[in-house]
Amino acid sequence: MTTEVKSPVAVVMGSDSDLTVMESCIQQLREFGVDPIVRIISAHRTPDVAADFADNAAAGGIKVIIAAAGMAAHLAGALAGRTLLPIIGVPLQASSGPCGLDALLSTVQMPPGIPVASMAIGKAGAVNAAIFAVQILALADPALADKLTAFRKTQSQKVIEKDKSIREVRQ
Ligand code: RP5
Repeated sequence: MTTEVKSPVAVVMGSDSDLTVMESCIQQLREFGVDPIVRIISAHRTPDVAADFADNAAAGGIKVIIAAAGMAAHLAGALAGRTLLPIIGVPLQASSGPCGLDALLSTVQMPPGIPVASMAIGKAGAVNAAIFAVQILALADPALADKLTAFRKTQSQKVIEKDKSIREVRQ
């Protein structure tokens, strides 16, 4: 099976139960004009699909893979071991698991030689994974770099405005 060429970014998650949080990642990518490939692939439940996906991702035009999982979160690492593409890991709190520290350690504690860029647990990590993926793509895409600059400016402006209004109320 080969991976269809659709987008330079793939968002892969271990279960459909991860989708609620990962919608933030997909949405953030879309705000930058990047419509990602979205897949549910489990390192444990569908290991052959995970291997096939990783093996064919680069040839299919994917440049960055965002891999999210909860519990014993091996998805990002399992993909990283089979491709040279950069893998961004998003550890999640599973519906039936503890607070997500389990997934954080499983994602971040990669052995030397096979890196995974692990983000924070949950929604913050999901959003940052999207931004980090765009930052990687922007190295070779000036239009995306301009969007990142505008994003940062808007973000700063929002905080400045909040600061202004809180100072008006409190002082
Ligand atoms: C992981 O196990 C998934 O990424 C999910 O976060 C967790 C639980 O999966 P479900 O039992 O909800 O399908 O592989």
